[in-house]
Amino acid sequence: RMPILEQCYNLLDFESVARRVMKKTAWAYYSSGADDEITMRENHSAYHKIWFRPRILEDVEHIDTSTTMLGTRVSMPFYVTATALGKLGNPEGEVVLTRGAHKHNVIQMIPTLASCSFDEIVDARQDDQVQWLQLYVNKNRDITKRIVEHAEKRGCKGLFITVDAPQLGRREKDMRSKFDDVGSNVQNSGKDNVDRSQGAARAISSFIDPSLSWKDIPWFKTITKMPIILKGVQRVEDVLRAVEVGVDGVVLSNHGGRQLDFARSGIEVLAEVMPVLRERGWENKLEVFVDGGVRRATDIIKALCLGAKGVGIGRPFLYAMSAYGLPGVDRAMQLLKDEMEMNMRLIGASTIDQLNPSMVDTRGLATH
Ligand code: FNR
Repeated sequence: RMPILEQCYNLLDFESVARRVMKKTAWAYYSSGADDEITMRENHSAYHKIWFRPRILEDVEHIDTSTTMLGTRVSMPFYVTATALGKLGNPEGEVVLTRGAHKHNVIQMIPTLASCSFDEIVDARQDDQVQWLQLYVNKNRDITKRIVEHAEKRGCKGLFITVDAPQLGRREKDMRSKFDDVGSNVQNSGKDNVDRSQGAARAISSFIDPSLSWKDIPWFKTITKMPIILKGVQRVEDVLRAVEVGVDGVVLSNHGGRQLDFARSGIEVLAEVMPVLRERGWENKLEVFVDGGVRRATDIIKALCLGAKGVGIGRPFLYAMSAYGLPGVDRAMQLLKDEMEMNMRLIGASTIDQLNPSMVDTRGLATH
């Protein structure tokens, strides 16, 4: 029998329910990684190489999990990252995530390739809820300019330019499962005779510009006042270059293991990046985020100890939304909150800014 919602006790539980209840094509698209999925698995298991060095006797009666990201106050140090094609998992699509994010006061990143239209997702916002835009850069820059200007006009507070996908990775699970209904209005693909035999991902992504380069980044600063963040940075040298071109942040990410197989996990790259930034006194020049494989509050806490401003979470919310709709997303976020409070108490930190590198033992990582 299928577990009821109350029997999901952690984020991984949603995945096993989703695997059983989701349409085969939808499961294949959400769950797949590139090639042999080595990076996808490594994303989560890399967190298992980091251990805690908890402090004792620190007065942890009151725990405050709130923090800021790009100037926005949030209740917890994670955000809902951009994942395409929300309607594959839930007929209402991305707006379900918008409502969940509102309930828990966390930020939602809106994907370029959402199933709902951009305006529908913005219209689903409540109160002073904050959203960011994830951007795939179109070969036609006029289209890209229009998307960015529109997002800023509609109140988006951050522009996350995806830089790890000049070509979409080969996700064989997705390719094997013939896909016919994108459920997407994919407004900027600029062509509708897409090749569906290549799986959902490739069918919708042919508009992405593989010639995008560092030279293009200054242009984005001329078309928007939103903070600009590069999503998908994977090595120290490129973080330093990002600082030099003056962007406001980076997401250390390998796209959830969906692009280059054998890319390293974001958390391992983070452990390498932050000491270099600190050495140069550059740690406050940009905000460093990390995503990929975050499934437990202990994962989030580890990333913050190492210097991340926040973490992105993708698949778990898709699975929660696909299996149980909004109540699923709500419960997944509540479980994370409960885990956050307990584990911060046990590590001896009552506020986010107390988390620091002395609280983790990273000797198990290749870089420490
Ligand atoms: C993604 N991701 C992604 N990233 C992006 O920049 N644009 C996109 O359209 C998508 N689409 C997408 C679809 C699906 C189904 C997944 C699982 C992921 C990558 C995403 O933003 C993020 O980097 C990873 O999902 C993080 O890893 P976890 O949390 O899914 O393990």
